[in-house]
Amino acid sequence: MKLAVFGDPVAHSLSPDIHQQFALHANLQVDYQTIHASVEEFAGALMAFRSSGGIGANLTVPHKHAGLSVCESLSARAEAAGAVNTLIRTDTSWHGDNTDGIGLIWDLQRLQLTISNSNILIIGAGGAAHGIIPVLLGHSPASITITNRTNNKAQQLAAHFKHQAVRACMLSNIGGLKNIDLIIHASAAGHSNDAFVLPSPATDLNPYCYDLSYGQASAAFLNWAADHQYPSSDGLGMLVGQAAEAFYLWTGFLLNNQVREDTLSYLLAA
Ligand code: ATR
Repeated sequence: MKLAVFGDPVAHSLSPDIHQQFALHANLQVDYQTIHASVEEFAGALMAFRSSGGIGANLTVPHKHAGLSVCESLSARAEAAGAVNTLIRTDTSWHGDNTDGIGLIWDLQRLQLTISNSNILIIGAGGAAHGIIPVLLGHSPASITITNRTNNKAQQLAAHFKHQAVRACMLSNIGGLKNIDLIIHASAAGHSNDAFVLPSPATDLNPYCYDLSYGQASAAFLNWAADHQYPSSDGLGMLVGQAAEAFYLWTGFLLNNQVREDTLSYLLAA
């Protein structure tokens, strides 16, 4: 079963390791490669992969948006997210899906965090923030507040959802937010060299802080959480969760919680 992840950069992706672990548990032969492709190279690299027998792929930065236009059909969740992270080969082209949101939900549940009736603050208003909001809304939070370095983009993203629970807040005003249960860091600050400045929310809060990134990219936000003595996690569990759903789409093999948690432990120990 020939699979791959396309990205730029992609060399340090953990997806090949994750899918090898899954394949061991499922007793399947999987060849999962990393394919480095720039924005310009992506379409050609995907065609070459298909010609060589590729049956499925993951897309990571910067290809998730471009994934929409290489597919002949899209799942409802890819449409809602405005991005594709999983391609499934069809007879003539690709079907596009998005498993990031369900991966996030799986990890929040693993961490015993409840979304229903909770007040969520999302930092960032780019593709990553857009991708998770529809899935979070499906679990009935009391509110989702979007804040972003560029306030205008937070307002536009909030308006896009046309949902009473979704609103924007200026970064400089988050100190006035009174009842935040969960802060999700969805900005690309961890991947840039610019300073990441985040004011403190109201002092009587103890929100859980979750970074969609992992490794070095999550360091600045997790340090900010530690400075405030907030509990926190990076997004490694989300990576495993989204991979498990992609693996299911390609193989029909549903990996149970134990396999997912064993894979997470394996990555943490590596
Ligand atoms: P992604 O798909 O990873 O979300 P994106 O669509 O380019 O990438 O969006 C990047 C997000 O990270 C934006 O919200 C961006 O803020 P701006 O709208 O102000 O550009 C945010 N971001 C990037 N670098 C940042 C930094 N150093 N500090 C704070 N926010 C940053």
